[in-house]
Amino acid sequence: MSKVLLTGGTGFIGSHTALALIENGFEVVIVDNLINSEADVVSRLEKFKNVSIPFYHGDCRDEDLLNRIFQEHKIEIVIHFAGLKAVGESVSFPLEYYENNINATVTVLKTMLKNRVHKLVFSSSATVYAENNPAERVEGHPLGCTNPYGWTKFMSEQIIRDTCQASSQLNAISLRYFNPVGAHPSGIIGENPKGVPNNLMPYIQQVATGIRDYLRVYGNDYDTVDGTGVRDYIHVCDLAEAHVAASKYLQNHKGCLEINIGTGKGVSVLEMVAAFERVNNIKIPYRIEARRSGDLAINYANASKAYQLLGWKAKRNLEDMCRDAYNWQYNLQKNKT
Ligand code: NAD
Ligand code: UD1
Repeated sequence: MSKVLLTGGTGFIGSHTALALIENGFEVVIVDNLINSEADVVSRLEKFKNVSIPFYHGDCRDEDLLNRIFQEHKIEIVIHFAGLKAVGESVSFPLEYYENNINATVTVLKTMLKNRVHKLVFSSSATVYAENNPAERVEGHPLGCTNPYGWTKFMSEQIIRDTCQASSQLNAISLRYFNPVGAHPSGIIGENPKGVPNNLMPYIQQVATGIRDYLRVYGNDYDTVDGTGVRDYIHVCDLAEAHVAASKYLQNHKGCLEINIGTGKGVSVLEMVAAFERVNNIKIPYRIEARRSGDLAINYANASKAYQLLGWKAKRNLEDMCRDAYNWQYNLQKNKT
């Protein structure tokens, strides 16, 4: 059986990907420093799938640790999720972001090459596209970022391309995620941000369960269907399956690629609120406020490259996203009380 090392594998996207990989016959090994996740994710996954998952509590900037993992397991593929991801925080603490995200990518690549591991999937982001591109993002569009977090993704992609260029054995796919939301329908894993959520769906989830009073809608004067911002929300289980597809692709193909992972459809803030209310039969109070600085009006993926190369496309719809997000948040609250 092929073994996949997931850096940052106890996090939101990593944990869902671990599950999808196990369901597709892969074995997984996880390394995470738990800066933004909890170790009990591992035992929940183990219990749910009746498997054992080797877990290393440590930092993937630690070369000795990664070398040890590669010596203890015959890893075929690395999926590198580990990283800090809060845009606003990255503006206040740029050095922490560059230090963590860039060094992690460099250390992962260095230790992979040293241990002759030649397949890498990297968590990139739609944030690498320059602002003034057409709203439908295509992989060949010009790149450029507006915050240190985005630049760490931009630079990591470049570091990966340069390393592939220098070492012809290395093959890599950077997946540019659009807006991952939702949770596994079982309710055993999901997104649980620390502090006040920055992103729309976790905020709606917390309003729905009474943690927050109302949603602040950042602007209703954009040139969009109803004036509110439009994004390409993708169910985290579809995103997880995209990593399975990328891993399988790397088993049979060579190269260094960047691929958008989205649904190809835009949804406005108010459309999301309405869908959440309808599906879960719950009211989400909101107030219209000023635009959030740095926000784009519309941003969605051209998702055809993922389908052409990986044979992957999103299967779940907005209703699935809203139902599973609420189910997860509801269970989370219930288990706390
Ligand atoms: P997350 O914070 O839930 O998961 C990241 C995990 O990495 C956490 O468990 C954290 O503890 C761990 N980590 C951070 N630095 C580490 C280090 N140096 N060594 C070991 N572990 C470390 O975030 P997520 O939403 O699951 O995102 C996963 C990846 O996808 C990140 O790289 C993120 O930037 C990228 N991404 C996320 C989104 C999104 O909206 N969630 C969008 C685009 C890209
Ligand atoms: C954010 C990140 C981006 C990252 C993406 C992935 C910022 C500035 N950008 O972008 O780098 O790749 O998440 O998930 O953080 N909204 C509200 N009220 C809220 C929260 C959001 O109205 O409380 C609106 C926003 O104005 C936007 C939409 O909801 O129109 C989506 O916001 P969000 O979930 O933060 O995602 P992005 O803006 O795409």
